[in-house]
Amino acid sequence: MDKFTRPTGTQDLLPAEQPYWEYVTSSAAATARRFGYERIETPIFEATGLFARGVGGATDIVEKEMYSFRDKGDHALTLRPEFTAGVVRAYIENGLHTLPKPVKLFSLGPIFRYERPQAGRFRQFHQFNAEIFGIQDPLADLETMLLAWDLYAGWDFKGLAFQLNSTGCPVCRPTFSAALRDYYQSHLHEICEDCKRRLETNPLRVLDCKQERCQPVIAGAPQSIAHLCEECSTHFTSLRSYLDALGRPYTINPRLVRGLDYYTKTVFEVWAEGIGAQAAVCGGGRYDGLIELLGGRPTPAVGFAAGLERIILVMKAQGLTPPALPVPPVFIAFSGDAARATAVRLVVDLRAAAIGAQIAMGGSLKAQLRQADKAQARFVFIIGEDELARGEVNFKDMATGTQLTVALGTAAAQVSQALAAC
Ligand code: HAM
Repeated sequence: MDKFTRPTGTQDLLPAEQPYWEYVTSSAAATARRFGYERIETPIFEATGLFARGVGGATDIVEKEMYSFRDKGDHALTLRPEFTAGVVRAYIENGLHTLPKPVKLFSLGPIFRYERPQAGRFRQFHQFNAEIFGIQDPLADLETMLLAWDLYAGWDFKGLAFQLNSTGCPVCRPTFSAALRDYYQSHLHEICEDCKRRLETNPLRVLDCKQERCQPVIAGAPQSIAHLCEECSTHFTSLRSYLDALGRPYTINPRLVRGLDYYTKTVFEVWAEGIGAQAAVCGGGRYDGLIELLGGRPTPAVGFAAGLERIILVMKAQGLTPPALPVPPVFIAFSGDAARATAVRLVVDLRAAAIGAQIAMGGSLKAQLRQADKAQARFVFIIGEDELARGEVNFKDMATGTQLTVALGTAAAQVSQALAAC
C-alpha cells in the first residue's frame, strides 16, 4: 500500500508546537485590538482574476506560485497567496467604505504559494495581516509600522531591523521605470530571461529577481528614492520625521521594492536574526491604487503581513518560550466495575461545574496514576471498591503528595476549594 506523506512545503503542527501557535496568534490579535483593528475573515480561495489583477500579472506570485484550479462548476479559483487582495474585495463588496474612516481590519490564517521550500519558506504558511483603509496621511503608515513594532517588542525579539523605502506613485513611477530600462539596456547580456521579459512588461519587477546572475546588476540599478515626485517625497519625509521623533530605528533600503505590484509610496520590511540572511518576518506598505483597480472608489490604504512560521522560528532561535497551555487539573483513577460508573458520573459532574477533568481509560491503578502524572493533573481522585462501599473517595494533591478521604457527595466542592487555594 502507498504510504501517504504530507505535501512538500507543508507542516503538521503537532500538539507540542501548539503553545507557540496559541501564543503568537492570540497575542497578535490582542495587540491589533489594542490598536483599534477589527477582525475580518475572507475565503481561503477567491477568483483567480482577483490576484492576477490585484497582485500583478508580472509578479513571481502570479506567474509562478499560485495554487490555481477549476472547480466542478468550471470557476477559475486560486488558494489565496496573500490576504490583501481578498480583504480589498470584501471591503468593496460589503460596502465597508461607508464606515467612518479609518477602517482598520486584521486577519489570521493560511496562505498558499508554490515556492521552493527552505528554512522559513513553506508552500502553506500562515500570516497575521493588518490593513488601514481611507487615510492618506503618513500617520497611517506610521500606525502600521508601530503595530508591527509592538508585536515583536511584545514577543521580546532581539536584533530586529526595520527596512524602509518609497517606491513612488503613478506620477513618478514612469520616470523611475524609464531610468531602470535605460540602465538595464547596457546589462542585457548579464540578466536572466525572466528579467528581459519583465523589463518590457513591468520594469520594477527586475529588482526582486532572485536569480544569482542578476544580483550584481540589481546592486548597481537606479534607486526609486532618487526619482520621487514632490508628493511622494514629502510623504516619505513626514513618515521619517514621525519615526525619528519616536526614536524608532530604521534603515533606508533603496533596494526594497517588495514582490507585489500594488505598492505606492511607503514599503517596509522587518528582518530578524535566526532565519537566514534577509528573511523578512513581516512586510508591507501603502497601496493607494488597489481599491480603485479592483472596482472600488479611490481609497488610500496601507498594511502589512507577518509570517507566523518565521516568527516561531525566530522565537526558537532566540530561546523565547511561550506560556504552557492549560491542562485539565483533575484526573480520575478507579479500579473495578462499580467504581467505573462512579468515576464516569464524577467526571461529568466536574465538567458541568466548569472544572477540567479527565478519566482514566484502562490500566492498573498504578498505571493510571502514571497517566495522571503525565497529564500534569494537579489533583487525582482515586476511586477504590472498599472506599466506595463507604461512600468515600481518595483525593490526592499531586504537588504536595497529601491524600485525603472525602465523602463522594462533596467531591466537586472539595476540588473547587482546592483549586481556589492554588
Ligand atoms: P509578503 O511580503 O509577500 O507580503 O508576505 C508577508 C510575510 O509573509 C513575509 O514577510 C514572510 O514573513 C511571510 N512569508 C511570505 N512567503 C512565505 C513563505 N513561502 N513561507 C513562510 N512565510 C512566508 C504580503 O503578503 C502582503 N499582502 C503584505 C501586505 C498587507 N501589504 C499590504 N498589506
